[in-house]
Amino acid sequence: MKAIVFLGGGRITSALVAGLRLSCYRASIVVHDRHPDKLRALKRQHRIVAEPDLQRALRQADLLVIAVRPSGVAQLLRDIGQIDQPVVAISLAAGIPLRNLQRQIRAPVQWARAMPSPACRTQRGLTAVTFPRGLPAAARDEVRALFARVGDVREIPESRLDAFTVTYSTSHGYHALAALAGAAERVGLDRKSALIAAAHGLADGILLWRDGNISVQELVHEAATPGGIAATVMEAMDKAGYAGMVERALRAGLARAKANAKG
Ligand SMILES: NC(=O)c1ccc[n+]([C@@H]2O[C@H](COP(=O)([O-])OP(=O)(O)OC[C@H]3O[C@@H](n4cnc5c(N)ncnc54)[C@H](OP(=O)(O)O)[C@@H]3O)[C@@H](O)[C@H]2O)c1
Repeated sequence: MKAIVFLGGGRITSALVAGLRLSCYRASIVVHDRHPDKLRALKRQHRIVAEPDLQRALRQADLLVIAVRPSGVAQLLRDIGQIDQPVVAISLAAGIPLRNLQRQIRAPVQWARAMPSPACRTQRGLTAVTFPRGLPAAARDEVRALFARVGDVREIPESRLDAFTVTYSTSHGYHALAALAGAAERVGLDRKSALIAAAHGLADGILLWRDGNISVQELVHEAATPGGIAATVMEAMDKAGYAGMVERALRAGLARAKANAKG
């Protein structure tokens, strides 16, 4: 194997590289970015090979990871031009469909898409992967194996990847934590206790579900005595439109992903 080459050395590349290093990934990790300071930081922290020249980076690749923001993908692909060696290219760009990528860079490059999260930094992430019909089994295995190093992997059809993207973000946890802790402070808790109580309130229950095989309904039943305080709080949230508000938010994310697809 030659190298895995990341194009874009920002947030998600930093998290993925950290997770790969934790997993004792042995192949050479090359990162190309237009900011020399980001390359220097990644080299210092994760022993990557910093490559400021795009074409030199590409020549080293047999696995290529597109990790620039969706708005920058088309220009990056134009700058790449055509690649003559067989490469498996994985786009992390939210919303941009395989057909757009395949139209810009053709065989022998083989495309896949993946949607990881910064949780891969600690190897506890989840990555959705999606493949075009006809992608050889060896290429699929290579992509699955890469992300399996940094957490769970789920293969889903491309038609559902945007729905996965808006649902699976570690930002949901942080956002809920900030909202719950903020409300807790306003009703009387000090900031530190509010954050700790809110973090446990969210994480303890979710870990119980994730690590066991008890349904969400059963867990809610156990945690909220009918007529009790937890049940009263949940009912008040539901009356205020909690479920509808979350759905509207996800639909806004889906619309954003569709806009990315149009470029
Ligand atoms: N962050 C996440 O949690 C996450 C999770 C899953 C998927 N993704 C996807 O991963 C991609 C990257 O997200 P990110 O949050 O890591 O973005 P980011 O922090 O902005 O990193 C992207 C980096 O690539 C650089 N770049 C852009 N175009 C370039 C080019 N043509 N040549 C060289 N360098 C270039 C950017 O420089 P400039 O700042 O100058 O543009 C920036 O340093 C996005 O498409 C996103 O949808 C992100």
